[in-house]
Amino acid sequence: MTSQLPAGANARQIVADGYDAIADTYLVEARKDNGGLRERYIRYLTEGLPGCSDVLDLGCGAGEPGTKMLSVYFNASGVDISSGQIALARYNVPNARFQVADIVEVEFPDESFDAVTAFYSIIHVPRELQPGLLEKIAGWLRVGGRFIGTFHFGESLEDYNPDWLGAPMYWSGYGPEDSRLMVEAAGLRIISAKDETIQFDVDGGPTTFHWIVAEKAQGQ
Ligand SMILES: C[S@@+](CC[C@H](N)C(=O)[O-])C[C@H]1O[C@@H](n2cnc3c(N)ncnc32)[C@H](O)[C@@H]1O
Repeated sequence: MTSQLPAGANARQIVADGYDAIADTYLVEARKDNGGLRERYIRYLTEGLPGCSDVLDLGCGAGEPGTKMLSVYFNASGVDISSGQIALARYNVPNARFQVADIVEVEFPDESFDAVTAFYSIIHVPRELQPGLLEKIAGWLRVGGRFIGTFHFGESLEDYNPDWLGAPMYWSGYGPEDSRLMVEAAGLRIISAKDETIQFDVDGGPTTFHWIVAEKAQGQ
């Protein structure tokens, strides 16, 4: 069930507080890697990048399964706005580095990563902030580096659920076509763009997301 964001509410604070509150519940679901999608998409990195490449996982949650899989092959780092999620991530993936930060505001030097992943996290960023985030991601990537991101399937300024897995939650997005345009406008070349449907056990029926894989080509 979605409804309107309460007047005056701060979307990113709702997300941070929400994931603090549901950290354990969400982890049970995330560990299932429904549809094996994270694992399947991480192959775009394991088959294209040398081991020990620097990989940044944006909105890493509790580190499982995404950051953990990445850390098997790569020098992995994770960022998340929820301190509760990051506490779990540090425990779950001790060989990766984590920081609590808003992915819209966090800073890294240009060309410091060979890949940036964002599994189901950009969908929580207010969509007017997403183009700027994509530009930052493109800046952080080295030439030849890859980006993998999950985007909202529906076109929606804001979706708000006052009780998602037990806490208020917020989502936002432009839908598949405009998300692809946004990635390209940031200077990334799209390698793959697909709608993927998963069954999220706690949340009811099937949900579709748009998955984009892109590359920072020479001269971009
Ligand atoms: C659906 S969970 C996905 C977690 C993990 N990537 C996975 O694959 O299961 C979304 C995560 O993104 C984080 N997140 C959402 N908005 C964020 C923001 N603006 N900055 C940092 N993290 C954010 C949330 O705290 C949450 O841990």
